[in-house]
Amino acid sequence: MKNILLRFLVLGVSFFSLDTFAQAGKAIFDSKCVTCHTLGKGKLIGPDLKGVTQRRKADWIKKMIKDPETMLKTDETAKKLLQEYNNIPMINMGLKDNEINAILAYLKSEDKKK
Ligand code: HEC
Repeated sequence: MKNILLRFLVLGVSFFSLDTFAQAGKAIFDSKCVTCHTLGKGKLIGPDLKGVTQRRKADWIKKMIKDPETMLKTDETAKKLLQEYNNIPMINMGLKDNEINAILAYLKSEDKKK
């Protein structure tokens, strides 16, 4: 019995921390990305990021946020996007890995919703 309670507690804590992590990602997204991206409201300067965690691999998304300059020069998918988006390059915002992971957690959690 004690064991079961403990498991619930641990599960509860990990759900909670995932949530706060995604929340932190939302805060960064809302301050740094919304000038160019929406989540489900259509294209702006850049693509609508709704569904991006389904159409791209997590690593690809992280690289695109961390080092768009290199991606836009070397990655075929990113190069095509650049053409599609009138050669307006996504800018490097100098985010740290944990900030990028938080944004990814947020994007994933949004893609789980309908
Ligand atoms: C100055 C505008 C601008 C800002 C700010 C910006 N982006 Fe972008 N982003 C773009 C453009 C434009 C593209 C399409 C590729 C290109 O033209 O460079 C893009 C592409 C992307 C892609 C690939 C989308 C796909 O469909 O594969 C991701 C992921 C992305 N951006 C995430 C972010 C995140 C997260 C932030 C905030 C930290 C951000 N971007 C901030 C303009 C921007």
